[in-house]
Amino acid sequence: MPKRVLIQLDGDPQPSTFDAVVAVDAGADVLLRHGGVTAENVMPLVHGAMFTRGGSALASSAIFVGGSDVAAAEAVATRVAATFFGPVRVGVLVDPSGANTTAAAAVVSVGRHVDLSPAVSAVVLGGTGPVGQRVARLLAGKGVRVMVASRSRERAEAVCDRVRERTVAASLTAVAAPGSFEPASEFAAAVASADVIVAAGAAGVTLLDPAGRAAAGRARVLVDLNAVPPSGIFGVASADKARVDGAALCYGPLGVGGLKMKIHRAAIERIFTDPQSFLDAEELLAIGESMG
Ligand SMILES: NC(=O)c1ccc[n+]([C@@H]2O[C@H](COP(=O)([O-])OP(=O)(O)OC[C@H]3O[C@@H](n4cnc5c(N)ncnc54)[C@H](OP(=O)(O)O)[C@@H]3O)[C@@H](O)[C@H]2O)c1
Repeated sequence: MPKRVLIQLDGDPQPSTFDAVVAVDAGADVLLRHGGVTAENVMPLVHGAMFTRGGSALASSAIFVGGSDVAAAEAVATRVAATFFGPVRVGVLVDPSGANTTAAAAVVSVGRHVDLSPAVSAVVLGGTGPVGQRVARLLAGKGVRVMVASRSRERAEAVCDRVRERTVAASLTAVAAPGSFEPASEFAAAVASADVIVAAGAAGVTLLDPAGRAAAGRARVLVDLNAVPPSGIFGVASADKARVDGAALCYGPLGVGGLKMKIHRAAIERIFTDPQSFLDAEELLAIGESMG
C-alpha cells in the first residue's frame, strides 16, 4: 500500500498548522505543505500530484485547498479542477478558513431538528462572512427561505446574488441589521419570523442581544458559531448542543465544532479513497448528513 500523501495548498505565507494536524490525525502519512499558493502558480504543484504515481497508487495522493482568503482559495480550487484531465486526477478537499466544514456542521445540526424545506425560514446573522455565506448557500440549496443579515444591505444583496448564481430557484432576501436591535425594524421582523437563526458573525461580536433574543419567538433552532465571548446570540453558551431554551434548541460553537471535526476527518478519508471526489460545501454537507 503506497503512503498516503496529502498536498496542502494554502494561500497564506505559512500554511495552516490546524489543517496540517487534522490531516495527520485523519490518516495522511506524509504531508507536503505549500504556502503562498495562488491560482497563477498552482498548476505545477497539481502536475506533481498527477504524474508521480500510476494506476491505483494515484488514489493515495490527494490535495487540500485552504487559506484565510476564501475567495483566493476558491480560485485555486477552480484551477486545480481545471488542471486534471481524464482519469488522471486525485481527490480534493476545499476548506479555506474551515468555512465549508463549519457551515456544513451548522446546517446538519439544524437539520437534525427541522425538516429543511421551503416551509422553513432562516436568518443568517453575519451572513456576508465566509462561514455565513456558505450557511446561506447550503440552507437555500435545501429550499429554505433564507434571510441574509448584514450591517450593509448592499453586501447582503451581493451574497444573495452569488447564491442565486449557483441555485437559480433559491429564495433569499437581504436584511439590513444595524448594530442595535430596534423593535419596529426590518431586522426585528426578520428575527420574529424565523424558524431558524444561525449567527456567523465575527469573533466576539453579539449580533442578537437580549431584546433580539426575546423577539425570536418562532425560532426552533438557534446556532451561534462565535467562540469568543460575548456570545453571538444572547443566552447561547459555547458548549450548547441541542440545549432547550424555551421553544428553541440551542447550539454553541463547541456544540457544532465536534461535528465539524468529524466531517473534516471523514472528508480527508474520502479524498484518499475516491480520487474522483472534489469536496466543497455541498459535498461536506452530504458527508455530515450521512453521519446521522
Ligand atoms: N466552530 C468552528 O469550528 C469555527 C470555524 C470557523 C469559524 N468559526 C466562527 O464562525 C464565525 C464566522 O466566521 P467568519 O470567518 O465567516 O467571520 P468574519 O468574516 O470574521 O465575520 C462575519 C461577518 O460578521 C460581520 N461583522 C464583523 N464585525 C462586526 C461587528 N463589529 N459588528 C457586527 N457585525 C460584524 C461582518 O458582516 P457585515 O460587515 O456584512 O455586517 C462579517 O462579514 C466566527 O465567529 C468564527 O470565529 C467557527
